[in-house]
Amino acid sequence: MTAPHGAALAATRTSLRALRDAAADCRACPLWRAATQTVFGEGRRPARWMFVGEQPGDHEDRSGRPFVGPAGRLLDAAMAEAGIDRREVYVTNAVKHFKWVPAGRRRLHQKPNAREVAACRPWLDAEIALVQPEVVVALGATAAQALMGRTFRVTRERGKLLAVGWARAFMATVHPSAILRMKGADREAARQALVEDLRVLVAS
Ligand code: URA
Repeated sequence: MTAPHGAALAATRTSLRALRDAAADCRACPLWRAATQTVFGEGRRPARWMFVGEQPGDHEDRSGRPFVGPAGRLLDAAMAEAGIDRREVYVTNAVKHFKWVPAGRRRLHQKPNAREVAACRPWLDAEIALVQPEVVVALGATAAQALMGRTFRVTRERGKLLAVGWARAFMATVHPSAILRMKGADREAARQALVEDLRVLVAS
């Protein structure tokens, strides 16, 4: 891991565009080597809600935009059902490079490790500072534990608005990719549970 990106960050305290440009050259962990590009967050500033995923997937790595693949489509539909317009939120990831291993012709997603999450954390902190969300919403355990610590359990805390010092509130819910891995009635129940969690945001 190279030195933290303090100098790049310090120069970008006021603009998301400057932050995104600085992150494009991030070498704070080795993930940039196999990724096509840094996939930075996008959306409203300020935004009432900031959604944080784990890391870009295959589609996101190619397009350079967060949550544009199958998981993104599921998230968009769940948001719409709960009454949230994606254009009104800010969407980002805990880790901004796609981590993968080859599997035949496919690129197989790999979970980022604690060092990779920690290396990316300054970008996420800077996004939160600039976007000033009322609620930061973690999608899945990687994002939730990046923000709340390794002992945080999404299964225990999901759908609850929790007080935190760095935003007005925090909520964790299930990652849309976890729903996509389910089948039949389980998948539909998990999708509905995600919509219910998102409705808590709208009612808050
Ligand atoms: N999964 C994530 O966590 N983030 C994305 O941007 C896409 C899929």
